Amino acid sequence: MKVLISGMAGFLGTHVAEYFIKNNWEVFGFDNLTNYELSRTKFDVRKSRTHNLEFLNKIGANFCQLDCRNINADLLLRMWGTFDFIIHCAAQPAMTIAIEDPKYDADDNIMSCVNMLEIAKKLNIPFVNCSSIHVYGNEGNDYLEEKETRFTPLKPIPEETDENEPVLEGELTPLHVSKYTTELYTKSFAETYGMKTASFRITGMFGERQFGGMDHGWVANFAIRTIMERDITIFGTDKQVRDILYAEDVARAFLLWFYAGRPVGIYNIGGGMKNSISLGECLGKLSDFTGKLTSIKVEPKRKGDLWYFVCDYQKAKIEFGWEPQISVDEGLTRIIKWIEGNQELFLFL
Ligand SMILES: NC(=O)c1ccc[n+]([C@@H]2O[C@H](COP(=O)([O-])OP(=O)(O)OC[C@H]3O[C@@H](n4cnc5c(N)ncnc54)[C@H](O)[C@@H]3O)[C@@H](O)[C@H]2O)c1
Repeated sequence: MKVLISGMAGFLGTHVAEYFIKNNWEVFGFDNLTNYELSRTKFDVRKSRTHNLEFLNKIGANFCQLDCRNINADLLLRMWGTFDFIIHCAAQPAMTIAIEDPKYDADDNIMSCVNMLEIAKKLNIPFVNCSSIHVYGNEGNDYLEEKETRFTPLKPIPEETDENEPVLEGELTPLHVSKYTTELYTKSFAETYGMKTASFRITGMFGERQFGGMDHGWVANFAIRTIMERDITIFGTDKQVRDILYAEDVARAFLLWFYAGRPVGIYNIGGGMKNSISLGECLGKLSDFTGKLTSIKVEPKRKGDLWYFVCDYQKAKIEFGWEPQISVDEGLTRIIKWIEGNQELFLFL
């Protein structure tokens, strides 16, 4: 079996490649290797990119530098032959960048998705789009109770949000629009052309090969800065809550979906209540696990941030038997080991 992964040199892409290779798939993928977000992290962009590319090479994934927006099925067929499955991980994922540069965000997120759907249509193969729980919106920020270390939701906000909740509630940003638009296109290709497509609404992920910064990837950002003994900036409050998810769990969701008959739909893919954690609680664990204490700066709340989100993933569990398996503590242990073993990547420039 052959899978095609867009954005394969990114954080999630490398985990999907690794997981599918472990499950005896042939893995092919591409990435445009943009420096847009990486250059804002202050890590050495070349070293970060090389690290992930060397990893892909080592595990035997086939890689080529290409942009989703301008490749086509004929080019891919000439290079690699046909495929059985497309997993679309390429994106502009950051809320901050979408707010600063909505045209880039729309072009990268929407046109990449439409073009990848076109390729899946031409090859007549199933397609999964990586969406985000941000599509639910941030209205929940107005219904929170402050407890000792975290917020808890007040009615009408559910403790765990399922796919029947309304979307785009609250203050919209360009990222809400672009990510939701990718879901609409993904659904429209199923309804118009009879394709097997799905969008996964993914919560905050973390894991090895994540060069997290202030724009996205907050768990990795906190872990890197703790280990490298740098200040950490919190926007608004450290009581914000997320159900975080280790990237390998997400990779497994794609494979389970494929083998469960490729059900068309929208699925929450998140850590759920047992993996929910506030920013402050996460910082506490990082400090305990590394023995390092970092100083925290608090800056004003950022536009678009979501202060409480925990997903209900029962639909994915019922329809394709998925649930997270890697606990927060296990995931943090793995990411800490990776950062400690690769500190030369995180010498801030
Ligand atoms: N990281 C998270 O916590 C999180 C949470 C929810 C959803 N997601 C979604 O998961 C997906 C993967 O996120 P990630 O964290 O791995 O991001 P990432 O930035 O690490 O990886 C994305 C990759 O896509 C590539 N890319 C961007 N535009 C491209 C284009 N036009 N053509 C080819 N390659 C392109 C980038 O170079 C990058 O390597 C995204 O769709 C993101 O929105 C991520």
